[in-house]
Amino acid sequence: TEVEPTIFGLPLKYVSLVTLAVQNAAMSIVMHYSRVSIPPSEAYSPASAVLLNEMLKGSISFVIALWRVSTLESRRPLTGNMFSPFRQLLREIFSPDCWKLSIPALLYVVQNSLQFVAVSNLPVATFQVTYQMKILTTAAFSVVLLRKRLSPMKWASLFFLAIGVAIVQIQTSTSAEPVRQVEQVVGSAHDSAPRYMHVMSPLKGFGAVTAACFTSGLAGVYFEMVLKGSKADLWVRNVQLSLFSLLPAFIPVLYTPTTHTFHDLFKNFGGWAWATLLIQVFGGLVTAVVIKYSDNILKGFATSLSIVLSFLASVILFHFSITPSFVVGSSTVLAATWLYNQPAGQEPALFVNVVNS
Ligand code: C5P
Repeated sequence: TEVEPTIFGLPLKYVSLVTLAVQNAAMSIVMHYSRVSIPPSEAYSPASAVLLNEMLKGSISFVIALWRVSTLESRRPLTGNMFSPFRQLLREIFSPDCWKLSIPALLYVVQNSLQFVAVSNLPVATFQVTYQMKILTTAAFSVVLLRKRLSPMKWASLFFLAIGVAIVQIQTSTSAEPVRQVEQVVGSAHDSAPRYMHVMSPLKGFGAVTAACFTSGLAGVYFEMVLKGSKADLWVRNVQLSLFSLLPAFIPVLYTPTTHTFHDLFKNFGGWAWATLLIQVFGGLVTAVVIKYSDNILKGFATSLSIVLSFLASVILFHFSITPSFVVGSSTVLAATWLYNQPAGQEPALFVNVVNS
């Protein structure tokens, strides 16, 4: 068996789950403001953002993969040739089974584009609530594709997890003080111009978020299946994923009327847009690590806990008050997490009876 990898002496599995939770808390807020704070004429193109995301993520993964191959090569001194790690890596990237990554690659490009539609047409909290449905789609795809067996109790705890997060977020949306503060900061940056009102279309937003839940579940589980079904290196798989994303990500860019040159890709990329891009790239890399060392279902728990944590942070930083629905919602999340992690056969008796009857 493999030794469990660590980072700074801590198990990589838990470090990556916690990192993903923090990343998730920041992501939807920054992404939302990068879209709604700017009039359409000055907005960056989501198509460019999706393409740049893949280019950046692919390059970082390539560098990590190259570094890994060279350190492995240097342990085998007799093959000493400066180009051999590079050639070795190319051989691994263009391996006969690389086509398997084309499916999650296409799904993730669709998902990343849908996310922009959703986030631009729904309030942040509504987006986050409805995006929780991916906990259930992910579990369903894990059962179908990975043949994971979930007891009725595990299903029930996933269901409670989704409900708990929804309760926490519905309450967040009614006390959006810090959100308004951010809006004012953004508004004052364009002092001379009249304050811009972003028009949202909730139906479009809901449609996009529902579709994104399905691609998220399917792509994540498919990536897990490919990753765990072979010995290939995680970073090589990531490079393959990004390479296959380039084509589907590039097509919408071709249809963007304002993008003619490489330079145009970066048009209207201000601070919020760059922050969105970098948080997304980082999130993609951490997601890959989480899928490798844990699984997609645990990933759902990490992001749910992040929502509770970010609300607690707002209580401390922005003097949000703790309301009954926050207490109910976060207790449900914590109870669901505890329940899911009970070893099989040791579930609370009362609960098993309720679920099985
Ligand atoms: O919401 P969800 O967790 O499904 O989002 C996954 C995100 O992680 C997507 O934006 C996807 O592009 C990214 N990802 C990645 N590399 C992987 C797996 C996921 O960049 N190996």
